[in-house]
Amino acid sequence: MSERPWSVLELVRWTTGFFKQHGIDSARLDSEVLLAHVLDCSRMDLYTSFDQPVSQGDRGRFRELVRRRAKERVPLAYLTGVREFWSLPLRVTPDVLVPRPDTETLVRACAGLGPGRVLDVGTGSGCVALALARELPAATLLASDVSPAALALARANAAALELEARIDWRDADLLDGIDGAFDVIVSNPPYIPSAEIERLAPEVQQEPRLALDGGADGLDVIRRLVRGASARLAPGGWLLLEVGAGQADAVEVLLREAGAVELARHADLAGIERVIGGRFA
Ligand SMILES: C[S@@+](CC[C@H](N)C(=O)[O-])C[C@H]1O[C@@H](n2cnc3c(N)ncnc32)[C@H](O)[C@@H]1O
Repeated sequence: MSERPWSVLELVRWTTGFFKQHGIDSARLDSEVLLAHVLDCSRMDLYTSFDQPVSQGDRGRFRELVRRRAKERVPLAYLTGVREFWSLPLRVTPDVLVPRPDTETLVRACAGLGPGRVLDVGTGSGCVALALARELPAATLLASDVSPAALALARANAAALELEARIDWRDADLLDGIDGAFDVIVSNPPYIPSAEIERLAPEVQQEPRLALDGGADGLDVIRRLVRGASARLAPGGWLLLEVGAGQADAVEVLLREAGAVELARHADLAGIERVIGGRFA
């Protein structure tokens, strides 16, 4: 990028080409999001100021973000520090998984049960617990994580959304030290097989290992959760788990072995079986 004045549109076009050369799929979107972030405006605002010049200072800040996105493959949300989930603006940092649209399937499945007492295990940014707090005004919510940094961020997100009074927080290793009885235990646990992580996109590899790594077959954490769930559920309560593509059959076996009396599966928007639930008597 030379030092002559660049317009918004020129910067977006140049950056889109640069991102494409570096193999970034959502090149145009990413360049617009980063420029809107630097100019502190919405993407829509960019469209009404395409011919406006961008100041040298803003261009310098933008250039640095573009470099980190293209060369270091830093996830977009870590560069802007925000990600929308269930229409809630959430702060995200490298301490937490970037909330995925797939995980809204878990929120939908849980909200559909209309539970009164909900536990969100491995809350990360707090996205699931916060969406449920919004969706279920009468529910009591407890959210846990084994990462203190994640819990701190989740609490900050709750405060920013004025939902802090709705959720209790617990630093806990899965269900250890958590007393029942919940109507639903919901979790998006780490479920990627350890050996697969290095084959994933470079962006994913910058997310916390603790949020991704599910052990040799990806099911280590899920196995522990399934084994412990019934003792923490009220009679008739559900354990709802997000799972990886192709894992639902194996998790169904685990749920049956643990005594689930009813099972339910929910597909995400791509048609992948993303959530599996088991009801315990
Ligand atoms: C896949 S991330 C999900 C984060 C968030 N719920 C979401 O859907 O974006 C898994 C989360 O589980 C947490 N976690 C991993 N092992 C855990 C354990 N043994 N006990 C509690 N939380 C754990 C991680 O710190 C991470 O925040």
